[in-house]
Amino acid sequence: MSNVVLQVENLHTSFFTRLGEVKAVDGVSFYVREGETFGIVGESGCGKSVTGLSIMRLLPEPGGEIIEGKIILEGKNILELSKKAMRAYRGKMISMILQDPMSSLNPVYTIGDQISEAVKLHQDLPDNMVEAEVVSALRLLRIPDPEIRTKEYPFQLSGGMRQRVVGSIAMSCRPRLLIADEPTTALDATIQAQYLALFDDIQAKTNVAIIFITHDFGVVSRICDRVGVMYAGKILEAAPTRDIFKAPKHPYTKALIDSVPRLEVKDERLYSIEGQPPSMFRLPPGCRFRPRCPVAMDICGEQEPPEVKLNEDHAVSCWRVK
Ligand SMILES: Nc1ncnc2c1ncn2[C@@H]1O[C@H](COP(=O)(O)OP(=O)(O)O)[C@@H](O)[C@H]1O
Ligand SMILES: [Mg+2]
Repeated sequence: MSNVVLQVENLHTSFFTRLGEVKAVDGVSFYVREGETFGIVGESGCGKSVTGLSIMRLLPEPGGEIIEGKIILEGKNILELSKKAMRAYRGKMISMILQDPMSSLNPVYTIGDQISEAVKLHQDLPDNMVEAEVVSALRLLRIPDPEIRTKEYPFQLSGGMRQRVVGSIAMSCRPRLLIADEPTTALDATIQAQYLALFDDIQAKTNVAIIFITHDFGVVSRICDRVGVMYAGKILEAAPTRDIFKAPKHPYTKALIDSVPRLEVKDERLYSIEGQPPSMFRLPPGCRFRPRCPVAMDICGEQEPPEVKLNEDHAVSCWRVK
């Protein structure tokens, strides 16, 4: 496949806790091409963030461990890199935007200081060129009056503007891969729409590959080219966004899509999925979605469904799909 930036193959990441092993990521595979946005969508606790943190190799220690699999970035399996080599790689090749911008910004430094720190760390630039690079990083995220903003502190900015600054820092190293982990969840609807629009913009200018993590299929429809639907540590269905909206195959995908509020339908009762995702300590036998599945059959409680490829880009793991 041409211009694939990231290929994740059969990734298994576990937490070893006093209560036992939690298989937070349980055999996940997907790829992202240059200039493409791949969405990872699913309910809270299904392993989306742990997938992102595994790719960054920034799992919480002790406890979090990559057990198996490959994470191939531009042809190189980054799981084979030393910690030191990985640090350099992380700066130059991959960066991540987290949900809460305040946790990524230092309250006692100005915006300018924080971005120039990132620029100096990751790019070999003479001192007199750093400022121009900082301003251009702010411009990339469409931050108005960048020369003024550089002198301000995080608390002087609105939530939406702070998240843009975090985006500027993430993009300032000119990464090949950007992982955005629910970056708009803490923003209100209008600001969220503006922020999502920025991703198209950034991609058009930089051709960066993006993994966009969200629990919201509405967000997926706006910005993802392809999407993987994750449940209890596994991707149950993956397809181009257009196909998955037109013809979702997995009952879980259908349920998630049905739970997106539609603007044009007034007073519609929101469909929500009954029950809770299973405890990650004890998965049910067979298909992990079976206890909540409205169309489960006997075999679903006995054996895990194999992945069926409907075509080159559409895969689904469900006994109902042949
Ligand atoms: N620090 C941790 N220690 C133990 N288990 C964890 C830790 N972080 C996450 N997990 C486990 O991994 C699962 C997936 O977590 P996460 O990737 O954060 O979910 P999501 O981002 O989809 O909401 C959780 O359900 C939890 O069981
Ligand atoms: Mg998360």
